[in-house]
Amino acid sequence: MTNAILLERECGLLTLRLNRPDKKNALTRAMYSQLADALQQADANPEINAILITGSSQCFTAGNDIADFLEEPPSDLASPVFQFMRSLLECRKPVIAAVAGAAVGIGTTLLLHCDLVYISADAKLRMPFVNLGLCPEFGSSLILPRLLGQAKAAELLLLGEGFSGEQAAEWGIATAALSNGEAALAKAREMALRFETLAPEAVRISKQLMKAPDREQLRTVIEEEGNLFVQRLRSPEAIAALSGFINRT
Ligand code: COA
Repeated sequence: MTNAILLERECGLLTLRLNRPDKKNALTRAMYSQLADALQQADANPEINAILITGSSQCFTAGNDIADFLEEPPSDLASPVFQFMRSLLECRKPVIAAVAGAAVGIGTTLLLHCDLVYISADAKLRMPFVNLGLCPEFGSSLILPRLLGQAKAAELLLLGEGFSGEQAAEWGIATAALSNGEAALAKAREMALRFETLAPEAVRISKQLMKAPDREQLRTVIEEEGNLFVQRLRSPEAIAALSGFINRT
């Protein structure tokens, strides 16, 4: 058993805290599985009203564990990373993220599927998929061009340019940018606890309505991206780039 995912309960709020500080909260297969289980159980538990995903006040997550990508890359759409993201996408309850420091790769992508995102203004987001010989994932190739326009989205997805928490809030990727990581977590917790006082069924139906128009298209795009991502992970381009990170001095 690992404590790389900490589960904390406060009234009807479940917090999932990424806790692998020595590796910048890089996500392993085991961590994805724990996150998927926790999300599914929370969704089914009538005592839970909202779920908060966070890291530390220094780092959200450095994305998928790169050693894992090389040693045990996801083989199909049933792999742990897909189970986690499916659980997030299908969660009927509000999911709130509190973000500080690095939010790389899936650390940025997953924010596109949270309902509310509170972020430190100086957070560092980046989707370096092409830089690693990979491709966009989990609907980002659909969502980002719609949100930002094709030209800006290309800078993020084709060049892998980084951006700040402040920019994420300006562009609608985050709900609001706060002065630092502690402030982002405090705001996220405050807003998540508001769901204690709101009628759960009304919240559930409202979320469902907000997600419904894009659901089918998103599913199709995610499947297409997922199949290509799984192939890309085995490509010489990706293996060279991922090995370059592992072997850096
Ligand atoms: N997978 C595996 N290990 C990772 C990791 C990842 N995604 N990101 C960081 N680590 C490890 C480093 O190898 C290092 O381990 P070590 O101390 O055993 O050598 C440790 O975490 C600290 O990382 P470091 O790079 O020294 O920290 P930093 O503060 O200088 O930089 C990041 C932080 C997140 C900017 C940088 O680590 C990074 O770019 N990571 C890779 C991000 C990435 O490409 N993710 C995959 C996207 S698909």
